[in-house]
Amino acid sequence: MTTDETAQGGSKTGPLPFDTTKPHQARVYDHLLGGKDNYAADRAAAEALLAVYPGAVYTARANRAFLGRAVRYLTAEAGIRQFLDIGTGIPTAGNTHEIAQAIAPESRVVYVDYDPIVLAHARALLDSSDAGATEYIDADLRHTDTILAGAAGVLDFSKPVAVTLLAILHAIPDPDDPYAIVARLLDAVPSGSYLAISHAASDLLDQETMRSFANSWNSRGQQRITWRTREQVARFFTSTDLVEPGLVRVDEWRPTAGPASAGTSNEWGAVGRKR
Ligand SMILES: C[S@@+](CC[C@H](N)C(=O)[O-])C[C@H]1O[C@@H](n2cnc3c(N)ncnc32)[C@H](O)[C@@H]1O
Repeated sequence: MTTDETAQGGSKTGPLPFDTTKPHQARVYDHLLGGKDNYAADRAAAEALLAVYPGAVYTARANRAFLGRAVRYLTAEAGIRQFLDIGTGIPTAGNTHEIAQAIAPESRVVYVDYDPIVLAHARALLDSSDAGATEYIDADLRHTDTILAGAAGVLDFSKPVAVTLLAILHAIPDPDDPYAIVARLLDAVPSGSYLAISHAASDLLDQETMRSFANSWNSRGQQRITWRTREQVARFFTSTDLVEPGLVRVDEWRPTAGPASAGTSNEWGAVGRKR
């Protein structure tokens, strides 16, 4: 486990303080997924979100299911054996290394998150198969040099890597240039690597619900969320070719056969292959 030394000391982009009185994205998401690693403020924020947007539980679950299908696709069909999973979240069922190593035990996974609660639970992410490896880096996505230097201990950057940024880029506001962050990460991996993104949408809900949803979260959360349009999310994939079916709602991305879904998500998702 490594920590983001450069981010210590309360810098603007450093690890979040451990403040349980303010809702935090990882813990609200955990509550929406039915997890137990959250506090009263997180549960209150989740209930307030659900009051204006009842589809939030469906969206959280659809996002997690997208993670599963994307990692399965990357391992089983694209032959990827190395993952850089940034914005890991609190460990829950179906973590990236569990899915990848069930298909290819030699898979190597580096997890990155900046939430102290995720760090506290990171041990659950370090139970790699003997043939593979997992590592956890406590760092802010904006500190790409720290992340890449730490990940190089486990990942071989001369071979393809899947960079997964699931439900995290909407926590990076425009002034912090999320496009440059993604470009720096993709610059570090060879052609044939993959980028997987899911991102909260600003253009799927009606505008009134969207406004209430945004106000409900941004007036209380520790991080502000920037919802983006499909076109804005597509820009992250500029140097890649999108895998079928392209950039769609996360629940529309290669859905598995089964009962018809009980909702529609409010997140865009795609997987692209670096040219
Ligand atoms: C909603 S959770 C998503 C978890 C997982 N990727 C998934 O899709 O199921 C978002 C995670 O991103 C982390 N996160 C948000 N902003 C971050 C940043 N700037 N640096 C590192 N992690 C961040 C949060 O702490 C949280 O654990």
